[in-house]
Amino acid sequence: MKKKGNTCIVGLTWGDEAKGKIVDILAAEHDIVVRYNGGNNAGHTVAFEGETYKLHVVPSGLFHANATCVIGGGVVVDPKALVDEIVRHEGKAAGLRQRLLVSSRAHTIWPWHTRLEALSEKHQGKGKIGTTLRGIGPAYADKANRVHAIRMGEFLAPEHLRAKIERIVENRNLVFTKVFGEEPMSAAAVWAEYEPLGKTLAPMIADTTAYLLRAAAEGKRILFEGAQGTLLDIDHGTYPYVTSSSASAAGIWPGSGVPSRAIGQILGVVKAYTTRVGEGPFPTELRNALGDQIREQGHEYGTTTGRPRRCGWLDTFAIRYAARLNAVDGIVITLLDVLSGLAELKICTGYTVDGRPVAEFPDDPTVLERARPVLETLEPWSEKLTAARQLKDLPRAARAYVKRVEEAVGAPVRIISVGPDREQTIFRR
Ligand code: IMP
Repeated sequence: MKKKGNTCIVGLTWGDEAKGKIVDILAAEHDIVVRYNGGNNAGHTVAFEGETYKLHVVPSGLFHANATCVIGGGVVVDPKALVDEIVRHEGKAAGLRQRLLVSSRAHTIWPWHTRLEALSEKHQGKGKIGTTLRGIGPAYADKANRVHAIRMGEFLAPEHLRAKIERIVENRNLVFTKVFGEEPMSAAAVWAEYEPLGKTLAPMIADTTAYLLRAAAEGKRILFEGAQGTLLDIDHGTYPYVTSSSASAAGIWPGSGVPSRAIGQILGVVKAYTTRVGEGPFPTELRNALGDQIREQGHEYGTTTGRPRRCGWLDTFAIRYAARLNAVDGIVITLLDVLSGLAELKICTGYTVDGRPVAEFPDDPTVLERARPVLETLEPWSEKLTAARQLKDLPRAARAYVKRVEEAVGAPVRIISVGPDREQTIFRR
């Protein structure tokens, strides 16, 4: 198996690191782009030729006519969201239906999942996770529980699927009516809506594990696109305020079938500051005018839900943990331009808990809740960065910021993004 040309792009924080732009750029030099985790909870933004495209479940390589796009078995697919997205973008993504493969092993999201999640979050009140309400958690729970799960491959046997949906809805209705005191749902209505979606998707359903292993053996270059970020990883993130999938590079093997030893390069993506959506501890959060300024300058509102993102200083202590966990070869800093014009500039290099410094990123959410950031002050800059194309185009203070981040995280900075467009990118060899 050849590994040199295969790359992974993974978020090192709580998602929204602008990975979509980086995947779009790197897709030009890969043959295949693979999503391996999450579902349409993700929001990846790609901008070129003056237009902005928002993607949720189709890999961000779709705009390159040479790239085969694969939705791996580790993804949970909402068939309705997927068909919507194909229809919305196929005008700009030439031949998309012919070069999009959806794993027959991928699990699926149904109306009972989204409804159950909405009820559950509502009933949690203050203790809610703050999810995207896309049915992600209930779909992964059914996958693990097996009894009421449906995989994409089952769309290829419609009669079997129809009967299964009847069985599942009968069972779910017990939960809706007896636990939540809500109205039952109709299996016939679900089938009427989803049968045509299944027919649309059927030609794209394939054994993508076999396809990818063959492609890797032939030396085709594969780009793995992580959704969300390492701190939202179900096993390694800030549990329970995480998503339900393996959002770190650890998800590639189970989520695509391609063994991790086939990956040549892992690039971890961070913003020049840190954001988080939903509930959960966030030690460097700025609940003040500076946080608001970063939110406005960075347009920090969710791509999927429109929720305002919580903003704070760059947390290199958390990122260092994530960089080690993913064994990154380098990091990508995005949205550096957003920091222009701030009155002060800080990064977090460690935490104290109950007044004492901690050696490792806390594994316990109650400890993380009590963590206070150790902040280092750096020189701010006022110049706009959006026209920079090489490192030397950046003002001295911005170059010093990049260098300090590199030292604090312990990994070289390979790419710097200074704006949403493909062109607004600085590459370091
Ligand atoms: P879920 O993935 O919808 O279950 O949401 C669980 C947590 O992950 C919530 O805090 C969400 O805000 C967060 N989350 C899920 N997807 C994304 C994403 O693409 N970017 C940022 N946060 C996300």
